[in-house]
Formats: sequence, C-alpha cells, structure tokens
Amino acid sequence: MIKERRDLLKAHDYGAFPPEDWWEPDQRKGVSPPPLEKSFDENAKLIDLIDPKNFKVGKIPLIDAIANRASERSFTDKPLTLEEISYLLWATQGVKEVDKNKVWTRRVVPSGGGRQPYETYLLIQNVDTLKRGVYRYLPIEHKLVLVTEYLPSADELMDKAWFQNFIGKSAVVFVWAATPYKTEWRYSLVSYKDILIEAGHICQNLYLACEGIDAGTCAIAAYEQKVMDELIQVDGENELTIYIAPVGKIKAR
Ligand SMILES: Cc1cc2nc3c(=O)[nH]c(=O)nc-3n(C[C@H](O)[C@H](O)[C@H](O)COP(=O)(O)O)c2cc1C
Repeated sequence: MIKERRDLLKAHDYGAFPPEDWWEPDQRKGVSPPPLEKSFDENAKLIDLIDPKNFKVGKIPLIDAIANRASERSFTDKPLTLEEISYLLWATQGVKEVDKNKVWTRRVVPSGGGRQPYETYLLIQNVDTLKRGVYRYLPIEHKLVLVTEYLPSADELMDKAWFQNFIGKSAVVFVWAATPYKTEWRYSLVSYKDILIEAGHICQNLYLACEGIDAGTCAIAAYEQKVMDELIQVDGENELTIYIAPVGKIKAR
C-alpha cells in the first residue's frame, strides 16, 4: 500500500519499461483534447476584471517579494479592491497564449505539456464591488463568472473549516480544483505527480503577488474535501479541490 502511494512520486520510464498500470493516453489514440477551460453558461453575466496592462498595484522588487514571503493566518478587515483581485488572478493563472488548435495554453505558471489542469474558484467575502459568493475565474477571457451567491457566513465558514478556521476572517479564499482528465489525456499515469506539483507553482505566485499589495496568504492542503467540493459545486471525482489559500490584508510587518 505504501509502495503504491510512493510510486505516485516517481517518474517512470515510459518508453522501455512502462509501469504495469500505465495506459495508452487518449492523445495517442487520436481523441480530441478536452476544453482549455470549463464551460460556462453563455447567457451568464460575466464580471469584467482590470486588464493586466493597466495594473498600478504589485510593482515591488521581486527580491523583496521573495525575501518577505511568509504564511499569514491573521487578516485585517480591510477589503481587497477589484484591481487587487484581478492582479492576484492574473499572477496565478493569467493566460499569455492560446494554441490555435486549442490544445494548450501558456500561462504565467508552467504546466507539463501546457495542460494547465486547474480551475480557480474564489470564495469572496470582502472585496469592493463584488457581492459575497462563489465565483470562478475564466482565465482565457480574464473575467469572473458567478457560481452561486450562496456562501456560508464567516462564522459558519470557520466552523466548517474547523482547524483552518482562519479562512473565515479572510477577504477571499482561492480554491484550486483540478480536472484530472486534462492531464490524463496526454500523460496517463504520470498525470497525478504533475497535477500536484503544478498546484505549488500556482500558490507560490499567489504568495509573491500578495507581497505587492500588503496582503498575505497561507497555503492549505488540510481542508475538508467534501465541504470544499460542495461549496464550489464540483463532483469531487472529475473535478476536485486540491489546494486552497485564504487571502486578506495584513498589518504592516
Ligand atoms: C503543501 C503545503 C500544505 C500546507 N498546508 C497547510 C495547512 O493545511 N494549514 C496551515 O495552516 N498551513 C499550511 N501550510 C503552510 C505551512 O505551515 C508553512 O508554509 C510553514 O509553516 C512554513 O512557514 P512559512 O510559509 O511562513 O515559511 C502548508 C504549506 C504547504 C507548502
């Protein structure tokens, strides 16, 4: 059992010695690639975000962001602005190029084969101009779509998140959910190692970007799986929460 679990951590020689449970990926079988981002109701009213070209925030030296990065679990009541939310979304999942054949996207974070298996959900509690609720980032459009206005109160959220209860005090919780098939389509068994590594790239950018707006975050792997999957309305199998990170303004360090 432990051996099988540890196998997840390994790279494999797929050419000469593929592992026994390897399967031929759909890409090699000529199956069309999955969509680059999750579909949304075309009649939905999308929320415009600030264009990255117009960001005035986040202009601190990279060396300071790296040196000062730390996990923050205590937030002030100050709201985040729409520009700050736009900047954090772009810094974590911003799209730089879409393949003309719609097979891959290039984003601000790397991803094996450009598969980019993550969707970003926001549990918005305290952001200027945005109503409390659950939203999803549309990275190709650089817009938000409302998932549901239902978000438990801060107290309920603290209850549901039990020992990570500080998420209740944040302005927004980033929830990254993977669609495993996006990566499986190309990489078969090695997908799971890639998917997990890639969450780290995304979250590190969030940490660094927070430094540029007097905000803080804390990576959380020990969340309640069912609670999170239900909040963002995913089935927990074909799409599931992998990593979360509450963000809020912090007192000067
Ligand atoms: C993969 C991963 C999972 C983590 N999960 C949690 C968590 O569930 N709850 C929490 O409070 N902190 C969590 N952290 C934050 C760590 O506790 C934190 O990074 C560590 O204490 C070092 O502090 P620093 O980030 O300020 O350097 C996690 C960090 C990583 C990288």
